[in-house]
Amino acid sequence: MPDLAKKIDAAAAAVRERCGRTPRVAVVTGTGLGGLAEAVAVEAEIPYLEIPHFPASTAPGHRGRLLLGELGGASVAVLDGRFHSYEGYTLAECTFPIRVVRALGAETLVLTNAAGGLNPAFELGDSMLIEDHIDLLPGNPLTGPNDDALGPRFPDMFEPYDRGLLALAREEAAAAGMTLREGVFVAVPGPNLETRAEYRMLRGFGADVVGMSTVPECIVAKHCGLKTLAFSVVTDLCDPDRLEPVDIAKIIATAERGGAALSALLQRVIPRL
Ligand code: HPA
Repeated sequence: MPDLAKKIDAAAAAVRERCGRTPRVAVVTGTGLGGLAEAVAVEAEIPYLEIPHFPASTAPGHRGRLLLGELGGASVAVLDGRFHSYEGYTLAECTFPIRVVRALGAETLVLTNAAGGLNPAFELGDSMLIEDHIDLLPGNPLTGPNDDALGPRFPDMFEPYDRGLLALAREEAAAAGMTLREGVFVAVPGPNLETRAEYRMLRGFGADVVGMSTVPECIVAKHCGLKTLAFSVVTDLCDPDRLEPVDIAKIIATAERGGAALSALLQRVIPRL
């Protein structure tokens, strides 16, 4: 058995030993979005450090634990805290937990993140449905020998974010009377934020928000056959002509405020996935 498959099996077996639940939906909580975890009726909480081959979470605003339980009647696995390439992990390492929740039985993946707003119509704290993405990260989580048992060598990116799930999210936002923006996410490596010239370029590329995560997870989800739905919370405004210094504590506080509205939306959406 190839090395990656062995590692996935070992991690999934360690989780199953602690909790026999089969999650239907997996959720990754981004910066400031850990509040969603509080809505879960938790059956098991497993620190990442106790799962074989999981990296350790080092980013501020990110916890490092896997929760298994129920959210609005849906069986869920919550990856509470994610990994970024700027922490020093390879993209394959960053996305390993996605493969593990797939092995546990998840069929749908919900990704959340904090992002800078490039679209001038966006306001601080807005939630945005990610309809498509642009990958500017160096490297790719699928680099290396492909294990055909895990997924195809050349996964297509025809529909990175599932159309049916996008429609469902729009419908629930409308029913809740919530403003849900929609647009393109661009992934950059970080950890520094961008220069004015870079924000101008990213907007010119057609992106609406910019962040340092999510795209590798979406690629691996495509590879292993998970349907994906993803959201950003706008935590800073990236208007090159009115740029202000950003303060990470402020970004996290805005993510927490905006994350509360997104969390309420997810509590309506997830039971329907
Ligand atoms: N740039 C990149 N990543 C981010 C930003 C940003 O402005 N805000 C939050 N995450």
